[in-house]
Amino acid sequence: MTDPTGLVRGIEIQAAGCTALGSPFSGVLLTAMAGDVTARGPSSRLFEPWLGASTRAVLEAAAPLRLLGALHDLVLSGAAPALAATYPRSGAPGDADAAWPQVLAAMDTERPRLEAFMTHEPQTNEVGRAGVLLAGFLTLAQETGLPLRCFELGASAGLNQQWDHFRYELAGAGAWGDPAAPVVIDVDWRGAAPPVGAKVSVLSRAACDRKPVDLTVAAARRRLRAYVWADQPDRLARLDGAIDAALAAGTKVEAEDAVAWTRRRPAPAVGAATVLYHSVVWQYMPADSQAALTEAIDAHGAAARPSAPFAWLRMEPDQTNLAAMELRLTLWPGGDERRLAFVHPHGAWVEWL
Ligand SMILES: C[S@@+](CC[C@H](N)C(=O)[O-])C[C@H]1O[C@@H](n2cnc3c(N)ncnc32)[C@H](O)[C@@H]1O
Repeated sequence: MTDPTGLVRGIEIQAAGCTALGSPFSGVLLTAMAGDVTARGPSSRLFEPWLGASTRAVLEAAAPLRLLGALHDLVLSGAAPALAATYPRSGAPGDADAAWPQVLAAMDTERPRLEAFMTHEPQTNEVGRAGVLLAGFLTLAQETGLPLRCFELGASAGLNQQWDHFRYELAGAGAWGDPAAPVVIDVDWRGAAPPVGAKVSVLSRAACDRKPVDLTVAAARRRLRAYVWADQPDRLARLDGAIDAALAAGTKVEAEDAVAWTRRRPAPAVGAATVLYHSVVWQYMPADSQAALTEAIDAHGAAARPSAPFAWLRMEPDQTNLAAMELRLTLWPGGDERRLAFVHPHGAWVEWL
């Protein structure tokens, strides 16, 4: 019989991660799933592709988040009212203990639908990360005094391309953006304030993803919403606002691999600061793509001039502090590289350095 130890451990680690990141509802459901896999209950049938996998493989495939997302998608679809009644909704916190028997029932009656959802790798677009990237854009605008040409890699649905149309409330460090903006991002700011007074104008914006999310398709919008943990209504509301803003703006994401696109698209241009940026993309690229991308970025950096600067701004995991991510900026000419901040993976807090 296949040994599910790696799978069970992977689900437990994901449960702890969700709880630590402010989703106790997900933590309880995942913990119950881990026990159910051990007991060879219905969860083990849905996790069949990962039954004998290592913990690492389970987490790399985000298998626990696939099932969590599949269940939330079912709830959001309206097709499972008994399950939905136990989930968090319009101000009610939800009851994970009451949800679990309904989850078990749905795993039985809705199995083909859940399995089909789980065949996709999870794809999110976290609008809260704009609150982190903002500080990098402000720094760049202040230091160059130039308008920005923005190029985003791994943009998913492209929601963060509209970053300059959001409102940011940086608790303890001021605010930035139109107070009437439909998307408000709250950040628990730690340390000195970023240059919120910098004059910012965005001259152009473009983005790529190897598999862009098409926001004009209702099922794709619901899939994006399903990956937001059910007990995080603020994140969901922010996502909805950003989806509306992206649809209204006609946001485009070009379907292309990051390396080819970077070679082709963001060459520096006179009279603007060209910035290539990304958040939580690097880890999904194989080592040879990371090397090729770094080479393409260095080539643009080498072509930069004081009148045509080039910047690489990225929010990615910090190898020295696994509980946090970091924001880094490299600016050419010169290629000066700085760690600007340690940050929460969804942008809930920023520790400005
Ligand atoms: C975790 S999501 C992050 C999306 C978005 N940057 C955000 O922070 O919300 C990672 C994204 O990177 C994209 N991606 C991964 N490897 C890629 C590559 N080689 N080229 C382009 N996009 C890639 C995926 O399709 C996915 O949309």
